[in-house]
Amino acid sequence: MTVYDAIGTTYTSTRRPDPRIEARVTAALGDARSVINVGAGAGSYETSRVVLAVEPSPVMIGQRPPGAAPAVRARAEEIPVADDAADAVTALLTVHHWTDLAAGIAELRRIARRRVVILTWDQRVFRRFWLVEEYLPEAAAFDDTRAVPVEHLAGLLGGARVEVVPVPHDCTDGFGAAYWRRPEAYLNPVVRSGISMLAQTGEQVLRPGLARLAADLESGHWQDRYRDLTGLTEFDAGYRMVVAEF
Ligand SMILES: C[S@@+](CC[C@H](N)C(=O)[O-])C[C@H]1O[C@@H](n2cnc3c(N)ncnc32)[C@H](O)[C@@H]1O
Repeated sequence: MTVYDAIGTTYTSTRRPDPRIEARVTAALGDARSVINVGAGAGSYETSRVVLAVEPSPVMIGQRPPGAAPAVRARAEEIPVADDAADAVTALLTVHHWTDLAAGIAELRRIARRRVVILTWDQRVFRRFWLVEEYLPEAAAFDDTRAVPVEHLAGLLGGARVEVVPVPHDCTDGFGAAYWRRPEAYLNPVVRSGISMLAQTGEQVLRPGLARLAADLESGHWQDRYRDLTGLTEFDAGYRMVVAEF
C-alpha cells in the first residue's frame, strides 16, 4: 500500500492539468520526441510524446484516462527500463514523495538520453504563502520535512536551469497553492484531500487553522488583509521547473 493508495482516491476530481502549466512543461521538453513520465499519477501533463508512465500506486494508475500511455507499476528509485530509453524524462510534483531522492534522480539520468524536467517548489518561497504562514503552519512544518531544495536537485542532476512557474488565479490543478485567490476552496475536504501537504498533516491538526480561516472569510478580515491579491492574475508561490540537458 502506497501513500497515494490512501490519499489519492479522489485525485482527478480536483487535480486537472492546467493548460498554462502544461505549456511550460511542453516548452521545457523542447524537441524531445519520446518521454517517460515518472511519478506519473493519473497522467496529468502527459502529451502524445509520453511513451511510458512509471507510477507505484495502483489507485493512481486506475485513474489514468483511456488511451493514456502504458503504465508500469514501479518507483523512481528502481525503474525497470533500459539506459537511454527516451529522449526526455519528466517528474512532476513527485520528487518530495520519494524515499531515496539520490537513487531516483540517478535513475532519471540513466533512462533519459537528453533531458530531465522536474516540477517542484522552493519551500523558502512557499512558506510565505498566506495559507501556511497565517493559518496552517503545521502543514508548512510537515512540508519542511520533505521539500527538496532546488539547488540540491540541480546538483544531483549535474547542473540544471531553474525557472519560476507562477500559479494562475484560476489554476485547474488543485495543488497546494492553486487556490491562492480562492480561499474558500481550502474549506472543502475534497480539495484538501487532493493536496498531500494537507491530507498527510491530517484533519485534526488542521482544524483550528481552518476554523480561523472560515471566521476571517465570514468577517471580511481575509478580504481586507489580502486585498492586493485580488488584483493579480498570477502569483509566485514558489513552484519551480528544474531542467537538465545532457
Ligand atoms: C502529487 S502526485 C503527482 C502526480 C502527477 N505527476 C501529476 O502531476 O498529477 C505524486 C505522485 O508521485 C507518486 N510517487 C510517490 N512515491 C513515488 C516514488 N518513490 N517513485 C515514483 N513515484 C512516486 C505518487 O504515487 C503520486 O502518484
